Amino acid sequence: MSINKYTHTAIALHWWIALLFIPLGVMGLIMAGLSPNDPLKFKLYQLHKSIGIVILCAMISRLVWRVIKAPPPLPIGQPQWSKRWSGRLHRLFYLLLFILPLSGWVIVSTASIDVPTVVFNIVPVPHLPLQEIADQVVIYDRAHSLHKFLFFFTIGLVLLHVAASLWHQFIVKDQLLKRIFSLAGVLGALLAIAITIALGSRIMGGVTTERESLPAIRQITHPHWYAEASNSSLQFRGIQEGEPFTGHFASFSAHIAIEDDLSQSFVRATINTDSVNTGDTERDETIKNADWFDVQRHPIARFQSTKITAVGDDMYQVTGSLHLRGINRTIVLPMHYIKNGDTARSQAQITLNRHDFGVGQGVWVSDEWVGAEVEVWFTLNLTRR
Ligand code: HEM
Repeated sequence: MSINKYTHTAIALHWWIALLFIPLGVMGLIMAGLSPNDPLKFKLYQLHKSIGIVILCAMISRLVWRVIKAPPPLPIGQPQWSKRWSGRLHRLFYLLLFILPLSGWVIVSTASIDVPTVVFNIVPVPHLPLQEIADQVVIYDRAHSLHKFLFFFTIGLVLLHVAASLWHQFIVKDQLLKRIFSLAGVLGALLAIAITIALGSRIMGGVTTERESLPAIRQITHPHWYAEASNSSLQFRGIQEGEPFTGHFASFSAHIAIEDDLSQSFVRATINTDSVNTGDTERDETIKNADWFDVQRHPIARFQSTKITAVGDDMYQVTGSLHLRGINRTIVLPMHYIKNGDTARSQAQITLNRHDFGVGQGVWVSDEWVGAEVEVWFTLNLTRR
């Protein structure tokens, strides 16, 4: 029986993508689990992004090639329903293998720490133009969840795809599997994988310094100054039953770069809401519960600047998006910032309305027990990274 085969190019692209896919996903899972200070994390991130972009390019090539050379017709004897489902599964694969790398690209374009993507340390890939949108943090979270979910979903489809192929090969015995094998095609795929691995070794074999850990990597494009709770403070004052009380966050980090060119400047902060401390255990437990910070569902609050303007000596007006309890609001922070060589100091104070972020639900919506306005201020002692 004569077999209608795919072209060598289509076969090479198929096996190149298929054989890179699972190792790439496993690499993603491993690197996501590593500590941010582990230099291996940075290398794996760069490798993962590089191979992910390669898959995206291979998918584009596959699509273009499919338009140029249509796939060979399926065997005449194959039932219509089987042809229909095979077509649907293939279309779904195309869709997923585009959305997966694209969602990864969205992650790196909206991450609070800006790590440039340079494919195999050779070709720089710009971020998607998502920096100016207010909901950056929400988009990051959604893209991240989607990215991970789609990987597992695609694995499920791959298993289905493999099972269907084996069924055709060994039960139906219609030689369908042979359509996607040719010596030249498989050798082409292996050569492409060998080149991918050789290029990947540029990243894995490169010299790593302490500073190549993730939080520090921003300096590749912008030097920045960094602070965390150990030598800085982030405090707030509220009113409970008419009496003022103060609190602070015991865990947070901030990255600031104020350049002469303010369009290159940024202020970013990440706060662990679970670290709130008002010196009163009962009140702290209440603040952490679902009606208040809801730390189970929203363990992180984030601030990301979108625009910085100079308003006086060492004074800046920092406009940005504050993400708290799942809600994004634009706030304008008057910030004092003074740089002195490798260190910098920054202070700011702002009054927020807790209702803007849905903080205080149920009976707490009323201002009778706890006031709506909360004064927040910080002092950051930053060091150059
Ligand atoms: C078909 C291609 C891809 C697959 C199968 C894939 C798969 C994965 C998986 C399974 C994870 C782990 C998710 C987690 O546990 O949190 C991950 C993480 C990640 N991926 Fe991909 N990925 C692909 C392409 C890309 C591309 C093209 C980029 C960027 C240009 C990218 C960027 C990232 C980043 C930044 C993370 C880490 C997120 C974090 O901080 O935890 N990925 N990827």
